[in-house]
Amino acid sequence: MDNIFEPLEFKNLTVKNRIFRSNIAGRLDNYDGSGNQARINWELKFARGGVGAIISSFVPITIHGRIVPKFATIHRDEHIPFWRKLGERVHEYDCKFIMQLSHSGRQRDIPGIEFPKGLSSTNNSEPLHGFQCERMTLQQINETVQAFAQGARRAREAGLDGVELHGANGYLITQFLSKGINDRKDDYGGSLENRARFVLDIVRAVRAEVGNDFHFQMKISGTDYNRALIPWEPRGNTIEDSIKVCKWLEEAGIDAIHVSSGSMFPHPRNPGGPIDMKTLASTYDTMASSGTHTFRNLIMFRTPLINNFFGWWWRHNGDRIVEGANLSDARAVKQAVNVPVICTGGFQTASVVRNAIDQGDCDAVSIARPLVANNDLLDQWKSGRDRPARPCTYCNKCAFNTLENPTGCYEISRFDSHEEMVAQIMSVFDERPF
Ligand SMILES: Cc1cc2nc3c(=O)[nH]c(=O)nc-3n(C[C@H](O)[C@H](O)[C@H](O)COP(=O)(O)O)c2cc1C
Ligand code: SF4
Repeated sequence: MDNIFEPLEFKNLTVKNRIFRSNIAGRLDNYDGSGNQARINWELKFARGGVGAIISSFVPITIHGRIVPKFATIHRDEHIPFWRKLGERVHEYDCKFIMQLSHSGRQRDIPGIEFPKGLSSTNNSEPLHGFQCERMTLQQINETVQAFAQGARRAREAGLDGVELHGANGYLITQFLSKGINDRKDDYGGSLENRARFVLDIVRAVRAEVGNDFHFQMKISGTDYNRALIPWEPRGNTIEDSIKVCKWLEEAGIDAIHVSSGSMFPHPRNPGGPIDMKTLASTYDTMASSGTHTFRNLIMFRTPLINNFFGWWWRHNGDRIVEGANLSDARAVKQAVNVPVICTGGFQTASVVRNAIDQGDCDAVSIARPLVANNDLLDQWKSGRDRPARPCTYCNKCAFNTLENPTGCYEISRFDSHEEMVAQIMSVFDERPF
C-alpha cells in the first residue's frame, strides 16, 4: 500500500493517512473572537479533499494573545458550541480536527483595541515591525499557562480530536524558548532549561486539565534562523537546542512534534519562496499603526530600488529548495524522540512525501499553500500524478494578502481568468449560513 495513504497511530489518535492540512486560514470571523460559517466552509474545503487531519490556524487562548482580530478564539466557554459545530462538520469526511492553541506574545500584526502592548519574555520590541511589549510578570506567566490549559479543556469539550501548541515561528512560546529573544534573568530565562520552563509548565497544566488520553502535539521551529533577516540580531536556537526541548516535551506528555522553522512570521524560510513585494506594498498599510517601525517599512516597501533590495535580501536568506526544507531538522528530531514527527514546508510532490516517510525523516507531512492551490491534491496523487497539473508556485501572494483580503490562491498564472481566481477566493463565503 502507498505509505501516504497508510493510517498513522498516535498514542491517543489514529489518522487515516499521512497528510495533515497545515495551519492556515484568513480573517473570517467576528472581532470578539466568535466564529463564522466562513471558517467552517474554509475547513470543509480541505476535509472534502481527503486530508487525514486538519490542524487549525492559530486559535488565541486569550484576547491579549491575538495575532490579528477576526480569527475565532477559544478564550471563553461560550465559544465551545461554534468549535463543536465545526468539528462535527469536518468529521463528516472522516477527517480529524486538531486545534492550534496560540498566544502571539509581542508578535501582534494588528493588535486590536483592547491591549496597547503585547506580553513577552522580554521588554524588547519585535525588531522588524517594532511591535511593543512588556516582560511578563510571574503572575502573568501563571495566568497564561492556565489560559492554555483552559483552551485545551474547551477544545476537548467541543469534541475536537486534539490540540497543538503553537510553539514555532516567533510567537509567545518561541519568545521564551529562543536565546535570540529571551533576555530574562529569572527562572524563565538564561539556560535552555529555564527558557523551556514556560512551555513545559503549559504541557503539564494542559495534561492536568485534559488527562493523558487526549491527543496533544507541539509545533516547534527546529532552527530559529534569528539573524536571517536582521544580521545584527542575536543568534537563536539551533536544532541541537530544539532536540533537547523535544525530548523534555515528550517526557512531559507531548504525543507528537510538528517541525517548522524561523523566529518570526513570515520568515524568509517559512513559508518558503520569494516575498511578493507588489502585494506587500499594497497590503502592509493595514499594519501601519501596529508598531514603531511599520510606517517606515511601508515607505520602504513602496520605494523603488529599496523594495527591490528588500525582496532580494529576503530571497537570499531563504532556502533555494522550498519542498522539504525542514526535512533535515525533522529527521534529527525523529532520531531523538519516540513520538511521531510531522514535517511542514512546501510538500506537493507525492514521491517526495513517500521518500520522506520511507527514509524515516518524518511520519507525516503537513501542507498549507499547496492545498490552498489544489484542494484536490490527494485525488491528483491518487490518479497517478506525482505533482499537480497546476502546482503552487510558492509565490506567497496568499500569505501577503491575508492581512487585508480573504485567504485563497492569488497566483493568476494558475487560473484561466481573473474571474476564475476571484471565484475560488470568494468560494469560502458560498455555503448555507451557520
Ligand atoms: C497565509 C498563511 C497563514 C498561516 N497561518 C499559520 C498559523 O496560523 N499557524 C501556524 O503554525 N502556521 C501558519 N502558517 C504556516 C503554514 O502552516 C505552513 O507551516 C507553512 O506555510 C509551510 O508549509 P507550506 O509550504 O505547505 O505552505 C501559515 C501560512 C500561510 C501562508
Ligand atoms: S498564492 Fe497560490 S501559488 Fe502562490 S503560494 Fe499561495 S497558494 Fe501557492
